[in-house]
Formats: sequence, C-alpha cells, structure tokens
Amino acid sequence: MQPRADTTRLPFDPAAMERVLLPIDEARGLPNEAYTSDAFQAWERDRVIARTWFCIGFGRDVAAPGDAFPSDVLGIPLLMLRRYDGGIGVFHNVCSHRGAQLVTEPCSVKRRLRCPYHSWVYDLDGQLLATPHIGGPRINETAGFDKSAHGLKPVRSVVFWDMVFVNLSGDAEPFETFIAPLRERWADFDMGRIRHPGEVGSLKLTVDCNWKLAVENYCESYHLPSIHPGLNSYSKLEDHYHIEAEDHFSGQGSHAYTPLLVKDGPNLPCFPNLPARWDKAAEYTSLFPNLLLGIHRDHFFAIRLEPLGLDRTREHLEIYYVGDDSADATYQSVKEANLATWRTVFAEDVDVVQRMQRGRHSPGYDGGVFSPAMDGPTHCFHRWLAKRLLTA
Ligand code: FES
Ligand SMILES: [Fe+2]
Repeated sequence: MQPRADTTRLPFDPAAMERVLLPIDEARGLPNEAYTSDAFQAWERDRVIARTWFCIGFGRDVAAPGDAFPSDVLGIPLLMLRRYDGGIGVFHNVCSHRGAQLVTEPCSVKRRLRCPYHSWVYDLDGQLLATPHIGGPRINETAGFDKSAHGLKPVRSVVFWDMVFVNLSGDAEPFETFIAPLRERWADFDMGRIRHPGEVGSLKLTVDCNWKLAVENYCESYHLPSIHPGLNSYSKLEDHYHIEAEDHFSGQGSHAYTPLLVKDGPNLPCFPNLPARWDKAAEYTSLFPNLLLGIHRDHFFAIRLEPLGLDRTREHLEIYYVGDDSADATYQSVKEANLATWRTVFAEDVDVVQRMQRGRHSPGYDGGVFSPAMDGPTHCFHRWLAKRLLTA
C-alpha cells in the first residue's frame, strides 16, 4: 500500500516567511517557491485566496439578463449568471448529477441552463427544474429525489464598482469591512457614475509570470524611469508617492496626472464635485489579492488578474468613464487614445515581470531585498501574504 501524502506539511519554510515580516530594511521578499511550486500554489489557493474576496469577472461580462460567464479560481470552476432582476449570481460551475462542467464559454442561456450531458435543467437562481428520464424513459421524476435539494451550489459573492468578488470559503470578513479602506480613500469619486464604453474600454494581455509578480510590479513606481520613459516624461518618479494600507492594498499616486489628449479633442467628462487636489492627482492601487485599480478625475480602470497556472497570468483591463454623457460619439477618439496609452504602458511591463518569473528559478536568488525608500508598497503586499500563510 502506498503511504498517504502528508497534506498538512507546509509547502514553505516558515522561517523564510517570518523574514518577510521583518522591518523593510531587514526583510527579505517571498521565497522562490511562492512563484515556482505547485504545492505552494495549491496551499495559497485554498488557504489564502479562497478565504478572502477574489475578483472573478466584471458585471460587463454578463451584460444582459440570461448571460452566463464561466470563470475559475486556479482550477475551481465557477459561473456568473445575470438574472432578469438585474442581479448577478455566482455558482459552482458543475452539474449536481454527474459533475459535468456546465458552461465552458461565455454565452446567453436565456432563462434556463441545460446541462449538455443528460439535460438536467436549472433556472437562473440555480434551482433544479427538470430531470428528464430520471425515473426511466419519459419518466421525469423519481421517488425520493427532491429536486429542491440538488440545485446549483451558490458561492458567496458581491458586485462592487462592476467588479464581481467571490469568497469561496464563505467565512471571510464581511465585504463591507474588506472594501471600507479603499472606499474611504476614494470617497471623493461618485463611483455610481462609472460607465463602460464597450470595446474601446477593454484589453486583455497574457503574461508568463505568477500573478503575484503582476501585483508587485503594479504597486511600485520605482521602475518608472527605466521601463516607462514615455510616462516618466510627464509624470516623473519624483511626482509619485507611495500608498500602503496594511492588510488591504498598496500602490502609488502621482501629483502630475494630465488628462489626455487628442489634439483639439474634447475633454472627457469628470467626476462631479471633486476637491481640487484631484485636478492633477491619480492613484494606482493593487487591491489584494488580484485587482489592479486606477483612479483619475476622468476615468477609472480595473485590471483583474486571472492566474492561469504557476507562471501564467491573464490580465483583463476594463476602463470606465464618467456619466451617461461619456457615451457621446464626440469622445470616441479620446477613448481610443486613452486605451492606446494604457496598452503601451502595460505592454512595457511584460518583459520585466517575465524576467522576474524566470529569475525565481535561480538558486542564486531567494526573496531578494527591498529598497526602504522605494519598495514599501511591494513589501506591504508581501506582508499581506506572509501573514496569511503563517496563520492559515
Ligand atoms: S451530468 Fe449534468 S445532467 Fe448528467
Ligand atoms: Fe509599470
């Protein structure tokens, strides 16, 4: 008989994780296995990601009633469904009968979701409606089988600023507690006014790195002069400040945001009643674990990081503009220019995050060090993860 695997063994050295928590001038970064070990990733998924609020998509992904959008959390298949009352439900994307994955591509199921295998049918609330032939040919009921007990399994979820968050474990802190620090920080912005512009607001990018390296790269401005010379020409390194909200998010802000633009183009509509400091300020935060957010007086964006494996991440960018007027055709060229600018900036980051991923396979590296002056936001993210790993 094979000995059973010890599933309780830590997939990391706790001493290495303790070192992450030291003051920044003594701390080391997360050890290599956090980026290269399958066992670590499984642990991270089940003990960290599943126990907090993780973004699996956008309201825009299920724009119309009956829309279905499959998403997954490192292999756990989930399903977003837009109801006719406008709400969004999230369920485990698996049939209660023999466990077939129900939806594999974004689609409209209209009012009923039919499993392709034996045609059991669910409604948009996840209720099991029909079980054809369950009692034999043309007998659609069977004694002792209670359909109401075999609906889709719901997942705790919240939609906030069009981002769909799930808490797989069901016992994370209330979403309100989770989001309060960010909501307060950006309370000047009337986020009820954000509007997605369609195609011109979306971008996808696949990068060969662990999802955490995308977070780390996003939250710091240190690399601005070397990696983003264009951006750095008008929003310089010295125009930036760090943001560290312990246990919640970290990032950077700029005092030199200049709205785009297009020569002779119109200015985009702005959030109403903003204090003057936002005339020139913009902020970029990594909301732990998997969202990269940006706020400006005239647009908001969110990048959802979808981990595709240990060393592959898909970035889903959605840009939102302000108010119904922003849909006016006169703004189209400005929105196109804005998307092009962000496409350039995010493409500039790809090579370095991929280099960091490859570097994580080097025995000559194990966590590295931080610049106390420049790497505070990155260290803040590492602390967030290390604390959770040590207490899980
Ligand atoms: S697995 Fe879905 S109906 Fe059988
Ligand atoms: Fe960057």
